[in-house]
Amino acid sequence: MSSDHATDLTSETLEARARRHLWLHFTRMSSYQGNDVPVIVRGSGQYVYDTQGKRYLDGLSGLFVSQIGHGRAEVAEAGARQATELAYFPLWSYAHPRAIELAERLAVLAPGDLNRVFFTTSGSEAVESAWKMAKQYFRTIGQPGRYKVLSRAIAYHGTSMGALAVTGLPDIKTPFEPLPPGGVRVPNTNFYRAPGFVADDLGAFGRWAADEIERAILREGPDSVAAVYLEPVQNSGGCFPPPPGYFARVREICDRYGVLLVSDEVICAFGRLGYYFGSQRYGYQPDVITFAKGVTSGYAPLGGMIVSDRLMEPFGTGPVTFLHGITFAGHPVSAAVALANLDVFEKEDLLGNVRANEGAFRRTLEKLTDLPIVGDVRGDGYFYGIEMVKEKATRETFTDEESERLLRGFLSHALYDAGLICRADDRGDPVIQLAPPLTCTQEHFDEIEQILRSVLTEAWKLI
Ligand SMILES: Cc1ncc(COP(=O)(O)O)c(C=O)c1O
Repeated sequence: MSSDHATDLTSETLEARARRHLWLHFTRMSSYQGNDVPVIVRGSGQYVYDTQGKRYLDGLSGLFVSQIGHGRAEVAEAGARQATELAYFPLWSYAHPRAIELAERLAVLAPGDLNRVFFTTSGSEAVESAWKMAKQYFRTIGQPGRYKVLSRAIAYHGTSMGALAVTGLPDIKTPFEPLPPGGVRVPNTNFYRAPGFVADDLGAFGRWAADEIERAILREGPDSVAAVYLEPVQNSGGCFPPPPGYFARVREICDRYGVLLVSDEVICAFGRLGYYFGSQRYGYQPDVITFAKGVTSGYAPLGGMIVSDRLMEPFGTGPVTFLHGITFAGHPVSAAVALANLDVFEKEDLLGNVRANEGAFRRTLEKLTDLPIVGDVRGDGYFYGIEMVKEKATRETFTDEESERLLRGFLSHALYDAGLICRADDRGDPVIQLAPPLTCTQEHFDEIEQILRSVLTEAWKLI
């Protein structure tokens, strides 16, 4: 490649070079053959900008990541200072100050006796690390038969082979089978699509969904089950909050059968639901929390798991070593950035902002229910899904062909063209997902609502 080419940053050449060389994730690359690749070049606050300088409201915080918003010099500078002082050192046998400080800070913020932090670089690695830890823990305490993990239908827990086995989305698993054995599915908490016998009673639905976990444990054999993975609010499928009492019941069931409760908070931690951890919002005590994304607000990559003292015990006292490690896990620059990110949370009371404004966010989005295409608006905090339906009264959803035409053929482009980054997804039923930066206030909610109203009104005409 010529050097001229490499330094030419005009939008046409960037897009052409992206088309030629860059492989976008979970993206049908052929759809860009005759179309522009969207190229985002800069961000500031709640907005990002493309090569033409056009502004977009970042209604998804990138990918559920940019909690504090874009362009925070103090967070970037914390990373730069750290790179100058100590750019890299591994956590294999050694420690470095930022990893120590961050581990301590996370342990203080985390609920109960979750006091031990194992860093990774991503959410998938966090999910997979928790599974490996659970398997080795049970072997060490004399229960070697426990290797299975329960998770919910349509739930997304990551893409590496182990994490994919925990993920509950058949379409993204099938091409990679056989996966590591042991992934078992249980129902999710989509009340809008609850089975008829509990469809009118949220409490009964929650009890049923939790009891299905017990039935799965009994069916699989309690001695073979290591853990159940649950997000506080399930993302995939379009934001399913837990019914009241759901997590209390799950906790009881886990205790009854000695199964670990892993709260996968890769999205739901760091303010997304108005608390540092989603489990704090719903008042349950996990054995492990997995996190990533918002811990750095994306200024550098980082993930990890926070583990209870009880689970750490066999690894901390005898000759046992957790036989697992990742070169860049707990990277000094990422750890420094995470600390600076948490400073912003504190200084600006971002949890307080979410708690004060989440009602307004909900009310603003609920205005959209007057549109014929909007079937359900659901979520908590700054985390919402809007389910689209063909027939509101019957909740009839779209056929695969209609959904393809609606989502990929129209909505994704139209929302982007209208200046809103969000996600139009049909991994379950078709939904639009929103997770804006935690700094957003009414003016941003109004902008989101107005763009959605005009684009969804157009979408309805195409059906
Ligand atoms: C709940 C949950 N777990 C795990 C992951 C995987 O995280 P990563 O993409 O950082 O590997 C995600 C990613 O969106 C997620 O939402």
